[in-house]
Amino acid sequence: MKHFALSLVFISIMFLFLTLNCIIYTIKYKRQLNNEFENITIYLESIQKVPDWFEVVAREIKDEKIKIGLVNIDDIPHEIHRKAEVVKVHFDPVGKQIQWSDLFPPWISKIPPPTCPNIPMPGFENYQELDVIVANVSGCESRDVSGLQVNLVVANLLVRSGRKDHNGAVFAVFIGSCEPMWEIFRCEDLVWHEGNSWVYKPELRRIKQKVLMPVGTCQHVPSFSQFGEEPYWGSQNQNNHLPQQREAYVTILHSTEDYVCGAITLAQSIIRSNSTKDLVLLADNNISPKSLNGLRAAGWKIKHIERIRSTFSRKKAYNRWNYSKFRIWQLKEYDKVMFIDSDLIVKRNLDEFFIQPQLSAAGNCEKHFFNSGLMLIEPSICTFDTLMKKRFVIESYNGGDQGFLNEMFSWWHRLPAEVNYLKVFVDFKDHVHQIPEDVYAIHYFGLKPWKCRVDYDCNWNWPDFREYASNSAHERWLDVYYAMPEKLRQYCPRTYEMDVKLQHSRHKGANNSSSPNVL
Ligand SMILES: *[C@@H]1O[C@H](CO)[C@@H](O)[C@H](O)[C@H]1NC(C)=O
Ligand SMILES: *[C@@H]1O[C@H](CO)[C@@H](O)[C@H](O)[C@H]1NC(C)=O
Ligand SMILES: *[C@@H]1O[C@H](CO)[C@@H](O)[C@H](O)[C@H]1NC(C)=O
Ligand SMILES: *[C@@H]1O[C@H](CO)[C@@H](O)[C@H](O)[C@H]1NC(C)=O
Ligand SMILES: *[C@@H]1O[C@H](CO)[C@@H](O)[C@H](O)[C@H]1NC(C)=O
Ligand SMILES: *[C@@H]1O[C@H](CO)[C@@H](O)[C@H](O)[C@H]1NC(C)=O
Repeated sequence: MKHFALSLVFISIMFLFLTLNCIIYTIKYKRQLNNEFENITIYLESIQKVPDWFEVVAREIKDEKIKIGLVNIDDIPHEIHRKAEVVKVHFDPVGKQIQWSDLFPPWISKIPPPTCPNIPMPGFENYQELDVIVANVSGCESRDVSGLQVNLVVANLLVRSGRKDHNGAVFAVFIGSCEPMWEIFRCEDLVWHEGNSWVYKPELRRIKQKVLMPVGTCQHVPSFSQFGEEPYWGSQNQNNHLPQQREAYVTILHSTEDYVCGAITLAQSIIRSNSTKDLVLLADNNISPKSLNGLRAAGWKIKHIERIRSTFSRKKAYNRWNYSKFRIWQLKEYDKVMFIDSDLIVKRNLDEFFIQPQLSAAGNCEKHFFNSGLMLIEPSICTFDTLMKKRFVIESYNGGDQGFLNEMFSWWHRLPAEVNYLKVFVDFKDHVHQIPEDVYAIHYFGLKPWKCRVDYDCNWNWPDFREYASNSAHERWLDVYYAMPEKLRQYCPRTYEMDVKLQHSRHKGANNSSSPNVL
């Protein structure tokens, strides 16, 4: 009896198992059938349906026959050929011997004028009046020369195809796993994106500016008078002249008040350069109302911001909040912004450089990097959002904004070194450290001039800082300082008049302890 009951339990368990298995099997089988059915549907659709990107552009282009140029793509779905005229764009792939470092050398000479390596382009006369350029970017990594070539081919074809009908709209479609370069194809112009397809409807005037730039920082941008007004701005239509550009110089103060005097001197120096642009200062809540009054009196319009932490900086690091600088992209009331750190002063009018596109800067004399202390940028909310997103993914070589921005804008445009003259002297035979007369702006590396409290550059006082010392640079800072009204000078730590007696200590105080601890 006991045995029977046990076997009964056993048998029922077995039965339960079998039923379960059977149910599971049925479900699996049904799913497979469904899958097959789905796969057949997808397959049928794929031979009948044109790709979505084509629908997107066809909606906007009302021509009888759309003209499509293929860049770095062998063919596109057969269905499109029935609806569009498709041409393959031929060009020689850029030689492997050309490296990014050839396009972005650390510095360039003035005489003789430097030249850039040749990046082959198609014979543009053969590809007129395209409506859509479909491209496959080959290298996804940043600083990939062949990737740059494909992006530039597309940009050039767009500029040469822009027409007056359908509002001159031409489209760039990127298919394949690599995104186009955002330095050329702006996020504002992205009209559709799904999976591995991106459709851009670029503002032709801006694209034209980009293709007129040298391919890298291997050359300076020709001065705008050489472009002539018309071709440079490239308005398609003679009557369609540009609206008044809204432009400003912008600096930022956050976290400490250490640079308040610097920002006041900077504003005064820009005003003395006879600039006609707005002056905007971004300040977080660590800047006191008293300082803000001084900054306003110096000429800045104040905008309040929340600071942004540098993702990869260490706690208490000097550059912990340097990503706050990215807020300049939120200034959408301006078309262009020349950002200047508060430890610079302007000696010559910089307004003419506003003609350059984003991102223009002077080199940092190391590798392919620019110095982020002075940058010409174009505010844009989607650019700001992208920077905010990417700051968790892309590391910065120095933990600060400069390293990050150099990764984000690896294709940048060179401003002359005199526009952001870095006060650093690496030639150990040079004991004078004289800076040229014609510099536009001086970037005060090392101990800041308003902290020196003497009328020579106190960077001389410490061996580790001597490479930053320059009395001629210091004197130019003092020129601006002494020309300021008394009420502005009081924002600087101490007046120099009181320190004239220290003049006699010139170089005598030169100390060979390696760090300055008397400030
Ligand atoms: C249907 O397609 C999917 C994904 O493309 C694939 O994993 C699956 O094996 C296919 N099924 C059949 C029955 O071909
Ligand atoms: C894009 O180019 C890569 C290699 O350059 C190639 O593997 C890929 O198939 C291409 N994609 C298209 C859609 O042509
Ligand atoms: C600014 O304009 C004044 C008056 O026209 C002129 O004297 C001065 O040299 C100009 N300053 C600069 C830096 O160009
Ligand atoms: C970061 O900010 C600090 C203080 O504002 C400044 O001294 C420093 O040069 C900045 N560093 C970088 C790498 O941008
Ligand atoms: C040199 O530096 C030390 C501290 O490191 C300081 O005590 C001394 O006064 C300095 N000497 C001069 C001449 O400035
Ligand atoms: C500091 O400078 C003095 C005189 O120039 C020199 O005699 C001394 O050796 C130096 N000390 C160090 C630590 O460099």
